[in-house]
Amino acid sequence: MKTIGIVGSPRKNGNTEILTTHALKAINEEGIETELVRLAGLDIKPCSACMVCKTGEKCAIEDDLFPIYLKMKEADGIILSSPVYFGSATGLMKSFMERAGYISRLNGEPFRGKVGGPIVVARRAGKNFTFAQLTLWFQILGFFIPGSTYWNVAVGRDKGEVERDEEGLRTAWNFGKNIALLIKKLKN
Ligand SMILES: Cc1cc2nc3c(=O)[nH]c(=O)nc-3n(C[C@H](O)[C@H](O)[C@H](O)COP(=O)(O)O)c2cc1C
Repeated sequence: MKTIGIVGSPRKNGNTEILTTHALKAINEEGIETELVRLAGLDIKPCSACMVCKTGEKCAIEDDLFPIYLKMKEADGIILSSPVYFGSATGLMKSFMERAGYISRLNGEPFRGKVGGPIVVARRAGKNFTFAQLTLWFQILGFFIPGSTYWNVAVGRDKGEVERDEEGLRTAWNFGKNIALLIKKLKN
C-alpha cells in the first residue's frame, strides 16, 4: 500500500510541502508507504490538446510528467497539494492536472477507485476556491475522497509560517488518517 503527495508549489521546502509532509506522516504511521513528489524544478508543460493520448496511454510532450503519471498508477492514495496563486491553483499544478487527468480519462481510467484529495495553502484568500478546483479533478477521475475535521486548507505566507496554523496542521493530519483508514477498508 502506498500514498504519494504531489506538491504543486514552485517553491521547495515551502508551506505546501510542510503541510503535505505532515499528512503523509499521519498516513505512514498507519503502516502505509508514502512518498513526496515535488513539482518544483520539474519541467511540466500544459496540455497541448494534440490528442495523442487518445491513441494510447502516452503523451506527446517529453518532459517530467509521464514518470509521475506511472507512479500515480501504482499508488493506492494520491494527494494533490497547491498554494493559492491569484485565487486558484498554481500554473504548475494546473498543467499537471490537465495532462495526468486526460491521459487517465482516455486510457481506462486507472485512478478510478483510488483514494485521494487536495491540500491547499494560502496567505489569505482563495483557499476554498482552490480546494474546490482540485476536488473537481479527483471527482471526475473516480477517486474516493475522504473528509477531515475541516476543509484541507491552511494559512501561511513566508516559508514555514504554516507551522503556526495549528488547526490547519491538525486538519491535514486528520485527512491523512482518513486516507489511511479508507485505503485499508477498500483493500480488505
Ligand atoms: C504569484 C503568487 C500569487 C499568490 N496569490 C495568492 C492569492 O491569490 N491568495 C493568497 O492568499 N495568497 C497568495 N499567494 C501567497 C501564497 O499562497 C503563500 O505564500 C503560500 O504559503 C505559498 O506556498 P509555498 O510556501 O508552498 O510556496 C501568492 C503567492 C505568489 C508567489
